[in-house]
Amino acid sequence: MKIPIPLFLCFTWGILGVFASESGDSLKESLKFLAEKRGILVGAAVAAKPLKADPLYAGILAREFNILTPENAMKFENIHPEPERYDFADSDAIVSFALDHHMKVRGHTLVWHNQIPLWLMTKDYTRDELVKILQGHISEVVTRYKGKVFAWDVVNEAINDDGTLRRSIWHDGIGPEYLELAFKWAHEADPDVMLFYNDYNGEGLNGKSDAVYDLVRGLLAKGIPIHGVGLQMHLNAGWYPDPADIDGNIKRLMDLGLQVHITEMDVRLKEPLSKEKLEEQAKVYREIMEICLRRRCQAYITWGFTDRYSWIPHYFFGWNDGLIFDRSYQPKPAYLALIEALKN
Ligand code: XIL
Repeated sequence: MKIPIPLFLCFTWGILGVFASESGDSLKESLKFLAEKRGILVGAAVAAKPLKADPLYAGILAREFNILTPENAMKFENIHPEPERYDFADSDAIVSFALDHHMKVRGHTLVWHNQIPLWLMTKDYTRDELVKILQGHISEVVTRYKGKVFAWDVVNEAINDDGTLRRSIWHDGIGPEYLELAFKWAHEADPDVMLFYNDYNGEGLNGKSDAVYDLVRGLLAKGIPIHGVGLQMHLNAGWYPDPADIDGNIKRLMDLGLQVHITEMDVRLKEPLSKEKLEEQAKVYREIMEICLRRRCQAYITWGFTDRYSWIPHYFFGWNDGLIFDRSYQPKPAYLALIEALKN
């Protein structure tokens, strides 16, 4: 029996080649096909809901990317909602999807000051209790995805813009040594997984990126297992760090023997949308990809891939449209700019 497919889906899926076979010509134009030739991983953050409910979303992910990051599913409040209960439903679903499609997974994130569950926020714990909680959490989550997650953001956003250490439940309750303990515990749980420090606003050369540099250099000097730095790269097309500074920062981190991943890139645009703004945005995506290719970053990951589902309008009032596919899943100039950068 023939199942009728609505006309608009035929049209969109046709354009995107979602039905193309793995060997089909249109796949040869995909980001991941070109990225594999250049030796770089290209990826996107993934939300569990549309992955389950929206076949176009899953189809484009599978077609375009070779690495995924769960956008929220592995954060403390979601994966460890009660003291004695973990909830792996969404994270397992994303990891299975990735592995079924021969994609790598970046685990995000083990230690962060945000998206902490209520049970941790509403009680006073002693230092010993917090040490036990964090060690147990890291050990449980990393062990579950041993051999499946390729790199972990062990600690996320621990440094303030002025370069000082951020105060948080972990910093205040355990002391600044929580950072090195977290890396050690993660390494104990999976000695083969790569461990990253991840942050924003330290992409170029400034006080914050100096502090990140000093932190990771200090960890390395102490023999703490750390393998890379994630540069989040939440940019806007009107203002972003000087590409020469981004290049210099990536170089100095790599000179320490660390890997550098672009972990959460988006380039938000002030509403209303215009053709010029989309071109500006494309230029930023292209520039960062060119730096990455030149410096041999191992991964270039965007924070989502379609403007249909993005954190931007919820967090930056009056801004939107930061990703490389629009809300109807049409590729934007930014997508084409990445294709061009990978080809050249
Ligand atoms: C964001 C998610 O995209 C949102 O859905 C959630 O409500 C808040 O967190 N830096 C990070 C990411 O490291 O985890 C954040 O993700 C965006 C900023």
